[in-house]
Amino acid sequence: MIAWIKAVHIAALSVWCAGLLVLPAIYYRRRHLHGNELHDLHRFARVVFINITSPAAFVTVIAGIALIFLREVFTVWMALKLVAVGALVIVHLRMGHVILSLYDPGGGYARWRQVTTTIATLSAITAILFLVLAKPVIEPTIAPEWARQPGGLQSLLETISPIP
Ligand code: HEM
Repeated sequence: MIAWIKAVHIAALSVWCAGLLVLPAIYYRRRHLHGNELHDLHRFARVVFINITSPAAFVTVIAGIALIFLREVFTVWMALKLVAVGALVIVHLRMGHVILSLYDPGGGYARWRQVTTTIATLSAITAILFLVLAKPVIEPTIAPEWARQPGGLQSLLETISPIP
Protein backbone atom coordinates (compact mmCIF):
# COMPACT_ATOMS: atom_id res chain seq x y z
CA MET A 1 0.00 0.00 0.00
CA ILE A 2 2.67 2.52 1.09
CA ALA A 3 4.85 1.48 -1.86
CA TRP A 4 1.99 2.13 -4.29
CA ILE A 5 1.21 5.55 -2.83
CA LYS A 6 4.90 6.43 -2.92
CA ALA A 7 5.05 5.33 -6.57
CA VAL A 8 2.05 7.56 -7.37
CA HIS A 9 3.70 10.40 -5.40
CA ILE A 10 6.97 10.11 -7.32
CA ALA A 11 5.26 9.72 -10.74
CA ALA A 12 3.06 12.78 -10.08
CA LEU A 13 5.88 14.95 -8.71
CA SER A 14 8.00 14.12 -11.77
CA VAL A 15 5.22 15.43 -14.05
CA TRP A 16 4.62 18.46 -11.79
CA CYS A 17 8.30 19.44 -11.72
CA ALA A 18 8.70 18.81 -15.46
CA GLY A 19 5.72 21.09 -16.11
CA LEU A 20 7.12 23.88 -13.92
CA LEU A 21 10.49 23.61 -15.69
CA VAL A 22 9.07 23.63 -19.22
CA LEU A 23 6.45 26.37 -18.79
CA PRO A 24 8.90 29.34 -18.62
CA ALA A 25 10.44 28.14 -21.90
CA ILE A 26 6.97 27.92 -23.48
CA TYR A 27 6.16 31.42 -22.20
CA TYR A 28 9.40 32.78 -23.58
CA ARG A 29 8.49 31.53 -27.08
CA ARG A 30 5.46 33.84 -27.10
CA ARG A 31 7.46 36.90 -28.23
CA HIS A 32 7.16 37.93 -31.91
CA LEU A 33 4.29 35.46 -32.54
CA HIS A 34 1.02 36.54 -34.17
CA GLY A 35 -2.18 35.05 -35.54
CA ASN A 36 -2.62 31.28 -35.59
CA GLU A 37 0.89 30.57 -34.31
CA LEU A 38 0.14 32.67 -31.22
CA HIS A 39 -3.24 30.96 -30.67
CA ASP A 40 -1.65 27.52 -31.01
CA LEU A 41 1.04 28.37 -28.45
CA HIS A 42 -1.58 29.85 -26.12
CA ARG A 43 -3.67 26.65 -26.35
CA PHE A 44 -0.59 24.49 -25.79
CA ALA A 45 0.52 26.52 -22.73
CA ARG A 46 -2.97 26.22 -21.22
CA VAL A 47 -3.09 22.46 -21.80
CA VAL A 48 0.34 22.05 -20.18
CA PHE A 49 -0.64 24.17 -17.17
CA ILE A 50 -4.31 23.28 -16.64
CA ASN A 51 -4.55 19.68 -17.87
CA ILE A 52 -1.13 18.31 -16.98
CA THR A 53 0.89 20.33 -14.43
CA SER A 54 -1.93 21.35 -12.06
CA PRO A 55 -3.54 17.86 -11.71
CA ALA A 56 -0.03 16.42 -11.16
CA ALA A 57 0.56 18.98 -8.37
CA PHE A 58 -2.76 18.02 -6.79
CA VAL A 59 -1.98 14.28 -6.89
CA THR A 60 1.56 14.91 -5.52
CA VAL A 61 0.21 16.84 -2.53
CA ILE A 62 -2.63 14.39 -1.75
CA ALA A 63 -0.32 11.35 -2.00
CA GLY A 64 2.34 13.20 0.05
CA ILE A 65 -0.14 14.03 2.81
CA ALA A 66 -1.27 10.39 2.90
CA LEU A 67 2.39 9.30 3.18
CA ILE A 68 3.00 11.66 6.13
CA PHE A 69 0.40 9.79 8.18
CA LEU A 70 1.17 6.30 6.86
CA ARG A 71 4.92 6.67 7.42
CA GLU A 72 4.49 8.88 10.51
CA VAL A 73 7.22 11.27 9.41
CA PHE A 74 6.61 14.08 11.89
CA THR A 75 10.20 15.27 11.68
CA VAL A 76 12.10 18.52 11.25
CA TRP A 77 13.38 17.57 7.79
CA MET A 78 9.79 16.96 6.68
CA ALA A 79 8.74 20.38 8.01
CA LEU A 80 11.61 21.96 6.07
CA LYS A 81 10.64 19.93 3.00
CA LEU A 82 7.12 21.37 3.24
CA VAL A 83 8.60 24.90 3.35
CA ALA A 84 10.47 24.12 0.09
CA VAL A 85 7.27 22.62 -1.38
CA GLY A 86 5.59 25.93 -0.46
CA ALA A 87 8.17 27.70 -2.64
CA LEU A 88 7.29 25.33 -5.49
CA VAL A 89 3.59 26.09 -4.99
CA ILE A 90 4.32 29.84 -5.18
CA VAL A 91 6.15 29.30 -8.50
CA HIS A 92 3.15 27.24 -9.69
CA LEU A 93 0.66 30.00 -8.78
CA ARG A 94 2.88 32.56 -10.46
CA MET A 95 2.93 30.44 -13.65
CA GLY A 96 -0.88 30.39 -13.64
CA HIS A 97 -1.08 34.14 -13.09
CA VAL A 98 1.30 34.88 -15.97
CA ILE A 99 -0.73 32.83 -18.45
CA LEU A 100 -3.77 35.08 -17.90
CA SER A 101 -2.25 38.10 -19.65
CA LEU A 102 0.74 36.73 -21.56
CA TYR A 103 -1.22 36.19 -24.78
CA ASP A 104 -2.89 39.62 -24.79
CA PRO A 105 -1.73 41.99 -27.55
CA GLY A 106 1.73 43.30 -26.67
CA GLY A 107 2.31 40.59 -24.04
CA GLY A 108 5.74 39.09 -23.58
CA TYR A 109 8.00 37.11 -21.26
CA ALA A 110 11.55 38.37 -20.92
CA ARG A 111 14.56 36.05 -20.93
CA TRP A 112 15.52 37.13 -17.38
CA ARG A 113 12.09 36.03 -16.12
CA GLN A 114 12.53 32.63 -17.75
CA VAL A 115 16.00 32.23 -16.21
CA THR A 116 14.97 33.48 -12.74
CA THR A 117 11.89 31.26 -12.59
CA THR A 118 13.81 28.20 -13.76
CA ILE A 119 16.56 28.81 -11.17
CA ALA A 120 13.95 29.25 -8.40
CA THR A 121 12.22 26.01 -9.44
CA LEU A 122 15.48 24.06 -9.66
CA SER A 123 16.58 25.38 -6.25
CA ALA A 124 13.32 24.30 -4.59
CA ILE A 125 13.45 20.85 -6.25
CA THR A 126 17.11 20.38 -5.21
CA ALA A 127 16.32 21.37 -1.61
CA ILE A 128 13.31 19.00 -1.50
CA LEU A 129 15.24 16.08 -2.96
CA PHE A 130 18.15 16.65 -0.57
CA LEU A 131 15.85 16.74 2.47
CA VAL A 132 13.74 13.74 1.48
CA LEU A 133 16.63 11.54 0.35
CA ALA A 134 19.26 12.46 2.98
CA LYS A 135 16.66 12.76 5.78
CA PRO A 136 19.14 14.82 7.86
CA VAL A 137 18.66 14.62 11.61
CA ILE A 138 17.91 18.20 12.67
CA GLU A 139 17.13 19.09 16.28
CA PRO A 140 13.87 21.04 16.79
CA THR A 141 15.92 23.46 18.90
CA ILE A 142 17.08 25.21 15.69
CA ALA A 143 13.63 26.86 15.68
CA PRO A 144 13.31 30.06 17.75
CA GLU A 145 11.87 29.77 21.28
CA TRP A 146 8.44 31.21 20.34
CA ALA A 147 7.99 28.64 17.54
CA ARG A 148 8.37 25.74 20.00
CA GLN A 149 5.66 26.78 22.43
CA PRO A 150 1.87 26.51 22.10
CA GLY A 151 0.54 30.05 21.54
CA GLY A 152 4.09 31.24 20.83
CA LEU A 153 3.14 33.14 17.67
CA GLN A 154 0.45 35.07 19.52
CA SER A 155 2.79 36.10 22.33
CA LEU A 156 5.42 37.11 19.74
CA LEU A 157 2.88 39.30 17.95
CA GLU A 158 1.83 40.85 21.27
CA THR A 159 5.47 41.66 22.01
CA ILE A 160 6.21 43.31 18.65
CA SER A 161 2.81 44.92 18.00
CA PRO A 162 2.71 48.67 18.82
CA ILE A 163 -1.07 48.44 19.40
CA PRO A 164 -2.01 47.19 22.93
C1 HEM B 1 2.76 18.77 -0.05
C2 HEM B 1 3.66 18.11 -0.78
C3 HEM B 1 4.40 16.89 -0.35
C4 HEM B 1 4.22 16.12 0.77
C5 HEM B 1 3.20 16.27 1.88
C6 HEM B 1 5.20 15.05 0.71
C7 HEM B 1 5.36 14.05 1.64
C8 HEM B 1 6.16 12.92 1.47
C9 HEM B 1 6.27 11.82 2.39
C10 HEM B 1 5.56 11.74 3.74
C11 HEM B 1 7.13 10.92 1.88
C12 HEM B 1 7.55 9.58 2.52
C13 HEM B 1 8.88 9.80 3.22
C14 HEM B 1 9.44 8.49 3.77
O1 HEM B 1 9.01 7.43 3.35
O2 HEM B 1 10.36 8.57 4.61
C15 HEM B 1 7.58 11.44 0.61
C16 HEM B 1 8.46 10.80 -0.23
C17 HEM B 1 9.10 11.42 -1.26
N1 HEM B 1 8.86 12.69 -1.73
FE1 HEM B 1 7.38 13.92 -1.11
N2 HEM B 1 5.95 15.21 -0.43
C18 HEM B 1 5.51 16.33 -1.10
C19 HEM B 1 6.02 16.84 -2.26
C20 HEM B 1 7.16 16.40 -2.88
C21 HEM B 1 7.85 17.05 -3.94
C22 HEM B 1 7.39 18.35 -4.60
C23 HEM B 1 8.96 16.31 -4.24
C24 HEM B 1 10.06 16.53 -5.25
C25 HEM B 1 10.31 17.63 -5.90
C26 HEM B 1 8.95 15.15 -3.38
C27 HEM B 1 9.88 14.14 -3.40
C28 HEM B 1 9.77 12.96 -2.73
C29 HEM B 1 10.60 11.79 -2.94
C30 HEM B 1 11.73 11.67 -3.96
C31 HEM B 1 10.17 10.82 -2.03
C32 HEM B 1 10.73 9.39 -1.85
C33 HEM B 1 11.75 9.40 -0.71
C34 HEM B 1 12.11 8.04 -0.21
O3 HEM B 1 11.41 7.06 -0.44
O4 HEM B 1 13.17 7.93 0.48
N3 HEM B 1 7.85 15.25 -2.55
N4 HEM B 1 6.99 12.66 0.39
